[in-house]
Amino acid sequence: MAPRVLSSLSFILLISLSSNIIGSHSLSHPTCAPPPPVVPVPIFSTDVDLLQFALNLEHLEAEFFLYGALGHGLDAINPELAMGGPPPIGATKANLDPLTLRVIAEFGYQEVGHLRAIKTTVGGFPRPLLDLSKHNFAKLFDQAFEHPLKPPFDPYANSINYMLASYVIPYEGLVGYVGANPNINGYVTKRLLAGLLGVESGQDAYIRGWLLERAEERVLPYHHTVADFTIQISALRNGLAKCGIKDEGLLVPLELGAENRTCNNVLSADANSLSYSRTPAEILRTVYATGDEHKAGGFYPKGGNGRIAREFLEDY
Ligand SMILES: *[C@@H]1O[C@H](CO)[C@@H](O)[C@H](O)[C@H]1NC(C)=O
Repeated sequence: MAPRVLSSLSFILLISLSSNIIGSHSLSHPTCAPPPPVVPVPIFSTDVDLLQFALNLEHLEAEFFLYGALGHGLDAINPELAMGGPPPIGATKANLDPLTLRVIAEFGYQEVGHLRAIKTTVGGFPRPLLDLSKHNFAKLFDQAFEHPLKPPFDPYANSINYMLASYVIPYEGLVGYVGANPNINGYVTKRLLAGLLGVESGQDAYIRGWLLERAEERVLPYHHTVADFTIQISALRNGLAKCGIKDEGLLVPLELGAENRTCNNVLSADANSLSYSRTPAEILRTVYATGDEHKAGGFYPKGGNGRIAREFLEDY
């Protein structure tokens, strides 16, 4: 029964594909417009909160990357996008090598674009209060190793530390977009989500690839390697989010590697090598570092903004 349904579906798909191809060949000049949407609704009202929720993460990324590379943030680049939200706590320029600096500056500017795209498509809210202080990162890394690192971890000290701190960030956006995808229905909002997901996952892949090249190096002055750091951070996030393994370090046991055939894990993905997905509640448990979406903390001392995050905080 099921295969029959599937094959008639693919038959319908084939017909509509070929009619599109025939349609475009019959034009005298090439077009660049996408075919008309199957469901002609640009934005469903239910899309709005989910995409606005992502602004919490996009603001975090924008400030961390812009400050890290340039020493200033959204207020210097595009202040109206902050919509009057308070400036971040403790963000500062990082001591980066020239190539890493160029890439992180690019990532920072990309986040400005993401903020603009989301806010102009579904509206937005003011930048939440963000704690990007080295003290906050140090606490997170202590939590990951389950003992205080000595000296405290400083994300801004050098490129390796900064990229390890960055390992914490676009991944949350990536899994959040994968999680939101089934609930986004408008053709404009779907297009927005796909575009955001593509760049977030590219950023995550760059960061992970950069770290993988140094996987066996010690993160001085500690005795742990770069790979150890990623494994501990991923384990911490799985623990905070409380929904099983959806986050993997750069080296994994074979049974978590692609096709159970490799321990190399430059990308974090499930048994079919598909990206993991997370709900807003899982993301908040992680980025609040409290394991509780009702309890603000971590990067968001006063919690996230927007209806989804505020409702969790209010019903506490
Ligand atoms: C890999 O191992 C897991 C059990 O650890 C199993 O569920 C899965 O089917 C295996 N995948 C492949 C491709 O063999």
